[in-house]
Amino acid sequence: MENLPGKHMDFEAEINRLRKEMNAVILAHYYQEDEIQELADFVGDSLDLARKAAATNADVIVFCGVKFMAEGAKILNPDKLVLIPDMKAGCSLEDSCPPKEFAAFKAQHPDHMVITYINCSAEIKALSDIIVTSSNAEMIINQLPKEQKIIFAPDKYLGAYLNKKTGRNMVLWNGTCMVHERFSEQELIKLKTRHPEAHIIAHPECPETLLRYAGHIGSTSSLLRYTQERPGQSFIVLTEMGILHQMKKLSPGSIFYDVPSVSNETAGACISCNECPYMKLNSLEKIYNCMLHRFPSLELPADLIERAKKPLERMLEMSKPIK
Ligand code: 13P
Ligand code: SF4
Repeated sequence: MENLPGKHMDFEAEINRLRKEMNAVILAHYYQEDEIQELADFVGDSLDLARKAAATNADVIVFCGVKFMAEGAKILNPDKLVLIPDMKAGCSLEDSCPPKEFAAFKAQHPDHMVITYINCSAEIKALSDIIVTSSNAEMIINQLPKEQKIIFAPDKYLGAYLNKKTGRNMVLWNGTCMVHERFSEQELIKLKTRHPEAHIIAHPECPETLLRYAGHIGSTSSLLRYTQERPGQSFIVLTEMGILHQMKKLSPGSIFYDVPSVSNETAGACISCNECPYMKLNSLEKIYNCMLHRFPSLELPADLIERAKKPLERMLEMSKPIK
């Protein structure tokens, strides 16, 4: 059957055809729409996705996440075509750390090492000594000498959480994730009161005011593992709602509650403030279009790739594979 453009097109079938033709791999983050997670060759957290991107034999990488993740794939595979369904898929953490200001901040702390959360631009990566994700940050920081002075950027909440966990006093850049900082503490308390048996689990991008309620704190893959290890139980989940797809799929007998954000209380009409507006820009239609046109693709200057690659490779070397 010939495919007609528009809403009658079977995007899934067309993507599958192109995936084969182009020898492409489709990587998706846990915050992607359910149908994208179902279609992907691999779904994972930021570290898993970076590892997959570094190891792939595919000629083309289709990155269904946000731009900084696709940039990471390009930095690790400069000769491959890296496609991103929507170039506007940014990140509030990335935006909160402009390279010029960060370079000036770094210059004020000349004796500090720069540890940077992967949620940042290629320019910020190039200004860093080691990149980390929420899966490996604690492990990597613990490998550094106790007396080593450190700047941690861009997430101040993740940085504060890591300071507490590692006993360090890292200097923190003042960045935040717009999704994780907006969960409503009041709504969280209401949910816990209604469901006292539920485990509260949280991503470390949340502020301490929320993390203090959590019985488990970790990256998206760590939160997922925690729920899988406790089948038939209930969970209040403090991270972007996309992860609920895998949680429900892998633990069908469990119950999951998502937490409304502060704007829900005030705006009333906002029903999806606990979704990342950038992650949700991607769609099957956009995936199909970027594969068909081989555009938009990630292009970075060769010297930037060279500079950003070192701290990213250092991360991969310093983080042992998770079983
Ligand atoms: P992880 O999946 O690595 O935990 O990261 C969460 C996130 O915010 C990605 O943007
Ligand atoms: Fe960035 Fe937050 Fe969206 Fe993750 S959830 S991509 S940190 S804005």
